[in-house]
Amino acid sequence: MKIIQTKDYSHLSRVAAEKIIHLIKQKPNAVLGLATGSTPKGVYEQLVLDHKQNQTTYQHIRTVNLDEYVGISADHPNSYHSFMRKNLFQYIDIHPNHTHIPNGKTDNLDKECLEYDQLIHKLSGIDLQLLGIGHNGHIGFNEPHTSFSSQTHVVQLAQSTREANSRFFSSIEDVPSQAITMGIQTIMNSKQILLLVSGKSKAKTLERLVNGFVTEAFPASILQQHPNVTIIADEDAMSIL
Ligand code: GLP
Repeated sequence: MKIIQTKDYSHLSRVAAEKIIHLIKQKPNAVLGLATGSTPKGVYEQLVLDHKQNQTTYQHIRTVNLDEYVGISADHPNSYHSFMRKNLFQYIDIHPNHTHIPNGKTDNLDKECLEYDQLIHKLSGIDLQLLGIGHNGHIGFNEPHTSFSSQTHVVQLAQSTREANSRFFSSIEDVPSQAITMGIQTIMNSKQILLLVSGKSKAKTLERLVNGFVTEAFPASILQQHPNVTIIADEDAMSIL
């Protein structure tokens, strides 16, 4: 794993955006794996700014998102569909049919998961997957003890994850208890991975990711075995490394 240290969050966001823009220029029909959470927001801001200033085009780009809550519709304000629309898609020239996010409101979740993996396969895989990380080492919504060989599947969210994400909802009871997430194997099949880590609260998590054992108890640890991972972390996140 390659580590790039940045001085702060806005620097981290610029460095990550530059890497994505570089790929788009090299491969205008690239498949981008996108993430939600607060960490990638700054990257999306930078991509929007660059699109306005330099007319970088997304006409042939396809995107697949990591995850979505189960039981809330795409137009729910806290769905990841809404997050992506609000933070990125509405500002760039991407074709709506080229953006893919699991449907958490389907009445056949197993079919949805299977079809999501088939879709990624049909797109010839993910060229670059953007990732954040949960405090407990989760990636996507793959909580501790998820099998490293998992494909897209339905997960029961850890109480700590629901608590962390309750800041976006009016109360913890409103945070869905399940989600659909790309599996760890799905993520590991990506050709390139950019993992963003920001802030003091993630310092221990990053230290364990870099120096800890590879174990299903800490899902992100598997990234140590991926051939092309770049961690972009700010000084605060790197503070105990
Ligand atoms: C959620 C998302 C993850 C994200 C994590 C950390 O659980 N499903 O993809 O990495 O939160 O979020 P944040 O960046 O807000 O710390």
